[in-house]
Amino acid sequence: MCGIVGYIGHREAYPIVINGLRRLEYRGYDSAGIALYDGKNIQLSKTKGKVADLEKRADSEISKKGSLGIGHTRWATHGVPNDVNSHPHYSNSGNLVIIHNGIIENYSSIKTELINRGYTFKSDTDTEVLVNLIEEVKKKQDVKLGKAVQIALNEVVGAYAIAVFDKNKPDEIVVAKLGSPLAIGVGDDEFFIASDASPFIEFTNNAIYLEDEEMAIIRRGRDIKIRQIKSDKLVKPFVQELKLNIEQIEKGGYDHFMLKEIYEQPSVIKDTYRGRLLADKGIIKLGGLEEYIPKFINADRIIIVACGTSWHAGLVAEYIFEDLARIPVEVEYASEFRYRNPIITENDVVIAISQSGETADTLAAIKLAKEKGAFVYGICNVVGSTISRETHSGTYTHAGPEIGVASTKAFTTQITVLTMIALKLAQVKGTISKSDYMMHLRELDMIPTHVAAALKSNDKIEEIAAVFKNATNFLYLGRGYNFPVALEGALKLKEISYIHAEGYPAAEMKHGPIALIDEHMPVVVIAINSNHYGKVVSNIEEIKARKGKIIAVVTEGDTVVRELADYVMEVPKTPESLTPLVTTIPLQLLSYHIAVMLNKNVDQPRNLAKSVTVE
Ligand code: F6R
Repeated sequence: MCGIVGYIGHREAYPIVINGLRRLEYRGYDSAGIALYDGKNIQLSKTKGKVADLEKRADSEISKKGSLGIGHTRWATHGVPNDVNSHPHYSNSGNLVIIHNGIIENYSSIKTELINRGYTFKSDTDTEVLVNLIEEVKKKQDVKLGKAVQIALNEVVGAYAIAVFDKNKPDEIVVAKLGSPLAIGVGDDEFFIASDASPFIEFTNNAIYLEDEEMAIIRRGRDIKIRQIKSDKLVKPFVQELKLNIEQIEKGGYDHFMLKEIYEQPSVIKDTYRGRLLADKGIIKLGGLEEYIPKFINADRIIIVACGTSWHAGLVAEYIFEDLARIPVEVEYASEFRYRNPIITENDVVIAISQSGETADTLAAIKLAKEKGAFVYGICNVVGSTISRETHSGTYTHAGPEIGVASTKAFTTQITVLTMIALKLAQVKGTISKSDYMMHLRELDMIPTHVAAALKSNDKIEEIAAVFKNATNFLYLGRGYNFPVALEGALKLKEISYIHAEGYPAAEMKHGPIALIDEHMPVVVIAINSNHYGKVVSNIEEIKARKGKIIAVVTEGDTVVRELADYVMEVPKTPESLTPLVTTIPLQLLSYHIAVMLNKNVDQPRNLAKSVTVE
């Protein structure tokens, strides 16, 4: 959470930092701030609110001049969102200024010590404590800024990506990382700092990703010195060439990133299997998997750890792995798994799923599984992310940057990867017949076309959204492979429209939720042609008998449910094991349109952030 940006070079820093903050706003958006060195002084402006509010404020508050600058967009951890708690934060002398993404867990004891030494604090943040600790070390031990940062960071417990500079040494920025991401863009005689590469992609394709417990001293027009914070060892900078392009991080004519990302699904699903799935030849080849296939097929069980939407993708995988590859699967919330002393052995394979690759709970679950000797496989979207580096091997989804806070294309591309893994394992294990295997490959290859067809119902779904936009509760029901889709549909609705929604296995309805049903309750039922069709039809009858309103997701050509339901949303026919890839599309669109009609901030819903780097 929180986005950080910095620049040091020969251009004006203000537009680079502001533009970068706009791109990182998905990481946090309750306050924003900027500090520039104008050649003499620090120009600092910060405010509660969004980057647009910061720009208005900066217009009257600062000169906007200077070729060194740092900026921050916040998702509050310590201290409510207000002007004072916004970053950047000054040290007491006013010489040092810092931005920080993360949490300093032992800030309270450090703060007490600093207060005893005469320091005062304006904000409630842990960050202001850190910058004053750096100042204290610098003064007391008479060391340069880089050394002071290093010593101070050795005293703190927690997570951080920081950037700090000193008014009296305005030709360098010191950055450091532990647990929160930090990328350094390397241009010609200029350097960029950011939580991800999106703020600098139009300036350079060359980036260095700091590893945990590394810090860097970035000097204007000169070089970067990277050190390990604990051991003081110098690290040779490893410059990567990025594949990202500017179009991928802009809205491209859509009103919202979420809608753009929903519409990107046919192409990103294809990107995710391109070169990995050769349907005609019956080949699935995943680079990260090949060598480890014996581990998977000999595993006692597969444990999937993830959070939120990624956890829902894990639930879909449970069905497909058990159904096709006959390997027992357990799906765990990473946040629960890590704290409940789980039984993990060397014979377990753990799959960690994460769009951002930075989710703190998932990362902690991975560390725990590794400690216990399990083999850990990662499925991440963000290349070079912490989880992708912490896992033993893995597969990237190729969804491209997902900027809308509500996850859409990450979900379908995660399922695409998981399906390919399950099919590959099933083939090697011999738990699937050749004809069934070939059929699945051909059908998976058709999914982009089916998703594109499902998207054609957009106008109709918008009309349905208009009917139900004022409902205060929704129930989502699905069975088998589509039970996790019901959960995901409910999550999408609640996170962007703030309407209470619950996902439930359709058959469980009669064990409780049926009590909720009356004429005011819209019930979204995934009622596609499948093994459970007849049973789901009965559930629909039960809801109708209690005057509930049915919005059904049906297979093209369905007649039975069409008769019963108040509204239907059609999806193309595909084998049941692949249906989550298509049934999820109308549910994404439904929640999108309801949120737009309710005037909600679709891309940046309240209280949320795109990557959850706090526990
Ligand atoms: C929901 C959503 C979140 C994330 C969750 C995990 O739309 O985006 O529930 O799925 O925070 O994030 P990652 O996948 O980045 O680990």
